Amino acid sequence: MAASIDPSKTTIVDIFAGAGGNSIAFARSGRWEKVISIEKDPSVIACAKNNAAIYGVADKITWINDDCFDFVSKDGNIDFNTSTIFASPPWGGPGYRGDEIFNLDTMQPYSAKQIHEMCKSTECALFLPRTSDLRQIAKLAPEGDKVEVVQYCMEGASKALVAYIPATQSS
Ligand SMILES: C[S@@+](CC[C@H](N)C(=O)[O-])C[C@H]1O[C@@H](n2cnc3c(N)ncnc32)[C@H](O)[C@@H]1O
Repeated sequence: MAASIDPSKTTIVDIFAGAGGNSIAFARSGRWEKVISIEKDPSVIACAKNNAAIYGVADKITWINDDCFDFVSKDGNIDFNTSTIFASPPWGGPGYRGDEIFNLDTMQPYSAKQIHEMCKSTECALFLPRTSDLRQIAKLAPEGDKVEVVQYCMEGASKALVAYIPATQSS
């Protein structure tokens, strides 16, 4: 993440924070002046806060218990000039384990397109299944621009990929 994101972005917004694994790593990295973590489930966010305290970064994360689609779209909540968005969404729907190529249009409960639509005012990083359809990811690139896709491997095998998508310039 640190190497792939424009240095002028000083805030990272983790829009599907879950139990905090990624948010805690961002806070520990020292790369970000501010980490904002959004999670809609109150019991899960409580768990994330506890995990952050265990890792000594409780005071380095701003927790938002809300629906990320509501929060991100509300004027003034996110400064898109200085923020980048990280999304580790649920990978539900048909095919995640069995299909050779994972269909990002039928990912549940949100398609990659739907998530990107929310984030596209700034550059964003989407954490997706390693078998995700690269043609669907390529379609998220702004006109004339490119998406960078990084496979994250452990012990010689990819665990997931991250698609780094530049901001869509408003006309
Ligand atoms: C795959 S998990 C994220 C795991 C996380 N990256 C971690 O390291 O623990 C997805 C999370 O997104 C949350 N979520 C789903 N829809 C959401 C929404 N609309 N707004 C905010 N959080 C949401 C779920 O409750 C779940 O905890």
